[in-house]
Amino acid sequence: MEIIVLLGAPGSGKGTAAAHLGTESNLRHVSTGALCREALAQGTAWGEAIRPYMDRGELVPDALVLERVGEVLEGLPTGERVLFDGFPRTPGQAQVFEDLLGDSGWRLRHVILLDVAPATLEERLGARMGCEGCGTIYNLHTRAPRVAGICDACGAALSQRGDDQLATIRRRIQVYEDRTAPLVRYYQERGLLRRIDAGKPADEVARQIRDIVDRDGQAND
Ligand code: AP5
Repeated sequence: MEIIVLLGAPGSGKGTAAAHLGTESNLRHVSTGALCREALAQGTAWGEAIRPYMDRGELVPDALVLERVGEVLEGLPTGERVLFDGFPRTPGQAQVFEDLLGDSGWRLRHVILLDVAPATLEERLGARMGCEGCGTIYNLHTRAPRVAGICDACGAALSQRGDDQLATIRRRIQVYEDRTAPLVRYYQERGLLRRIDAGKPADEVARQIRDIVDRDGQAND
């Protein structure tokens, strides 16, 4: 029962990599960002509680995120490999996560840092489109759909995420630097951090991650 965490700035390609890996490496994908957006769309009480933070590009308070992650962990079938995308995102979340795992039999095996030059992040996020049906992620520059505005995979409409406006993108990147980047050191000190070059094309990024996930490598950072 292993857990792999994808750590990286907004636009570093966590969701894209998880989508590649999910089918190829038999990993269950848990994205806290997707859980947040789902709750917003459904208008649940939890969704309404997190809405103001999401709208501003701020992190949802730790207590609220941990409440949801605790539920997810309880519902995970044993014997699976799970890829957490976008969690933990603060040292506080990481500490509680460690405690939750300690009691559960799950083991955090790798924390994979998707390293991308800051200038690339804004460029990628400004050109991102997502499918409203199946969630496939596109990019108007690097992965455009065959027909503008329509998903290649399922034919549903594509749209831009609400938090992909330039001012909110910049805020999210700043929040990452202030609140999430300290986790790099946190996991380095625990010997769990693996750093990959996520500025490469998406299939190459997925290959680098698969190499780490599918072999019991030593920390290289
Ligand atoms: P979340 O959904 O996790 O957003 P994020 O961290 O800002 O990351 P993104 O989803 O924007 O980017 P990504 O790294 O997945 O990149 P993608 O693959 O899409 O969180 C959203 C919000 O929810 C947060 O702001 C916060 O409010 C809340 N939240 C979530 N988790 C939380 C937590 N733990 N604690 C507190 N709050 C939380 O790729 C981006 C673009 O680049 C796409 O167009 C893609 O096609 C393109 N691309 C990707 N890879 C490549 C590549 N290798 N080459 C070229 N283009 C690429």
